[in-house]
Amino acid sequence: MIFYFSGTGNSRWVATQLSAHFSDTLYSIGEYERKESPLAPTFEVKPDEKIGFVFPVYSWGVPPVVTRFIADMQLEGYNRQPVYCIMTCGDECGYTNRMFTRAIKAKRLETKHIYSIIMPNSYICMKGFDVDSKEVQARKIEMAKIELPRVMSAIENDQSIDFYTKGKRFLRIKSGLIYKLFAKHALSDKPYRCGDACTSCGKCVKVCPVNNIGLVAGKPVWKGNCTQCLACIHVCPTRAIEYGKSTQNKGRYFFNQQK
Ligand SMILES: Cc1cc2nc3c(=O)[nH]c(=O)nc-3n(C[C@H](O)[C@H](O)[C@H](O)COP(=O)(O)O)c2cc1C
Repeated sequence: MIFYFSGTGNSRWVATQLSAHFSDTLYSIGEYERKESPLAPTFEVKPDEKIGFVFPVYSWGVPPVVTRFIADMQLEGYNRQPVYCIMTCGDECGYTNRMFTRAIKAKRLETKHIYSIIMPNSYICMKGFDVDSKEVQARKIEMAKIELPRVMSAIENDQSIDFYTKGKRFLRIKSGLIYKLFAKHALSDKPYRCGDACTSCGKCVKVCPVNNIGLVAGKPVWKGNCTQCLACIHVCPTRAIEYGKSTQNKGRYFFNQQK
C-alpha cells in the first residue's frame, strides 16, 4: 500500500509509478483529511505487504497534513515490515527524513529506506521563490525518470542506497525554526484572491487534494483548511488566483505528463 499526498502532481506521478511497479494500492492522504468523521482511518495490511509514503517536502519538513495522517492512521495486521518513504522536493530536504522517522516511530512502526527525488519547484509564495525555467523543469523530470527506477529497485531488493538530498547550509534552522513558523503561520487561506479573469471552470475545486475550495456565485471560496499545496494557483488556466501579492508575476507549474 502506498499513501501519498500531492498538490501539483509531482508526488502523484512518483506514487503512480510505484503503484504500477509494485502492483500496490494507492491511498490519497488528502481523501482522509476531507472526511469530517473523527474516526481514525484503518487499513488492513498483509503480513509481507510493502508500506510506502510519498509526499512533497514543505519548508524543509513533512507537510503537516501528512504528519496528522500518520498520527491518526491505524494499520491492522502490521508485521514490523519497514515503512519506506520517497519525498519529492524542488532542491533540498534538510532534516525531513528525521521528522518522518520521528512520526513513524511515534506510531510504533519501523522505517528504513528514505529517499528524495528532485522535481520542479512549486513554491512561489515568498520573495525570491519562483518556479523553475522550462529548461530546468524538463531536466529535473528527465533525471527523475532515471532516478526513480533505481530507487524502486533499491526498495524492492532491500538495498540501502544514498538517494537523499539534504542540502548544505543552515539545515537545523530551516528544518527547525523555519518549519515551525511555516506550520504555525503559513497555512492560512485568507490571502487567496480570485480576480475577474476567473471563468468559473471549477478546476481549482477539483484539484484541491483536501476539498478546501467551493464555488460560490461561480467564484472559488476557500474553507479554512488549506495545506498550502498551491495546486489551485498553479492549475488556474487564466491565472485568476493569487496568494496576496506574493504570487503576482511569478510562474505557474503543474506536472501533467502521463508517463
Ligand atoms: C509550501 C511549499 C513548501 C516547499 N518547501 C520546499 C523545501 O523546503 N525544499 C524544497 O526543495 N522544495 C520545497 N517545495 C517544493 C516542493 O517540495 C516540490 O516542488 C514538490 O515536488 C511538489 O510536489 P507536488 O507536485 O506533489 O505537490 C515546497 C513547495 C511548497 C508548495
